[in-house]
Amino acid sequence: MTKRILFQFDCDPHASVFDAVVAIDSDVDHLVPYAGVQATSVEPLVHGAMFTRGGDDLKNTAIFIGGSDVAVAETLLRCVTDTFFGPVRVSVMMDANGCNTTAAAAVVAAARHIDLSSARAVVLGGTGPVGQRVARLLASDGASVTLTSRARSRAQHACDHIAAQAGEAIGAKLTAAELDSPDDVHAILADANIVISCGAAGVQLATESDLCSAKNLVVAIDLNAVPPSGLGGISVTDKAKPFAEGSAAVGYGAIGVGGLKMKTHRAAIRSLFESNDVILNADEIFALAKRVDA
Ligand SMILES: NC(=O)c1ccc[n+]([C@@H]2O[C@H](COP(=O)([O-])OP(=O)(O)OC[C@H]3O[C@@H](n4cnc5c(N)ncnc54)[C@H](OP(=O)(O)O)[C@@H]3O)[C@@H](O)[C@H]2O)c1
Repeated sequence: MTKRILFQFDCDPHASVFDAVVAIDSDVDHLVPYAGVQATSVEPLVHGAMFTRGGDDLKNTAIFIGGSDVAVAETLLRCVTDTFFGPVRVSVMMDANGCNTTAAAAVVAAARHIDLSSARAVVLGGTGPVGQRVARLLASDGASVTLTSRARSRAQHACDHIAAQAGEAIGAKLTAAELDSPDDVHAILADANIVISCGAAGVQLATESDLCSAKNLVVAIDLNAVPPSGLGGISVTDKAKPFAEGSAAVGYGAIGVGGLKMKTHRAAIRSLFESNDVILNADEIFALAKRVDA
């Protein structure tokens, strides 16, 4: 049987050990890591992958794009897909810094508790790569989304960027908001049914009392795993846990959504080898996470 080979293109000086372990756990026979990959080095690497095996065997070669810089990884993905022509291609997945699997798992976890098509969601610290994806996926399933930043201009820029990438229909579901003081949080959370905290590691963006005062809240998810928690009162291992006495709302911590994230990551790697033309980015990984969670 033809061996499954996964080429790991990583923009960091050392290719991610995390991504390597997940690949091996996803039945990859040979993992070939490349570190420090730049846009200029992509074409010959991709040629090596796409010209060596033919016909049905081509589906046993695939590419994973990772690293800590999501913007660079997006560029690498474009360079990879630009190198393909016609049926001469291999499957490729982008999950730099876990941005796509993490965002997909968070939004699918939220959808366990509320119909997204009629939900009002707040994405705290939404300007980073994870937050932008969370906002995009929530909006793509119909939620009205408020995306916050310490600076309104950055929040607006993130909303505009999502609209440019995902389309105006999704852009129309997004509202930019500034969250620069504790007073802002109450107003921003007042009508929210969903809050997903996507701020930088170790940054708290809402307190337990902020969450308790948000009377319409159904589910709160904190993706930050580094103390203090991004949402006060939610522990990193919480999984659909009521976060305050007498509250019907539930909370998830980063490890609480981590199980679904890991399952999604493994399912995504396996799906790369089903055909030679799979491209997995935010929307495709979200669709996969929904199937994994069903
Ligand atoms: N569980 C997992 O597997 C997993 C995987 C990936 C990421 N994560 C976590 O998910 C979260 C989001 O990841 P990311 O890479 O998108 O985050 P990020 O880019 O590091 O930060 C997101 C946003 O946080 C805001 N921020 C930064 N420092 C701040 C401060 N001191 N006070 C208030 N806001 C601040 C910034 O927004 P403004 O400057 O616009 O305010 C920034 O754009 C992180 O906590 C990360 O650790 C978890």
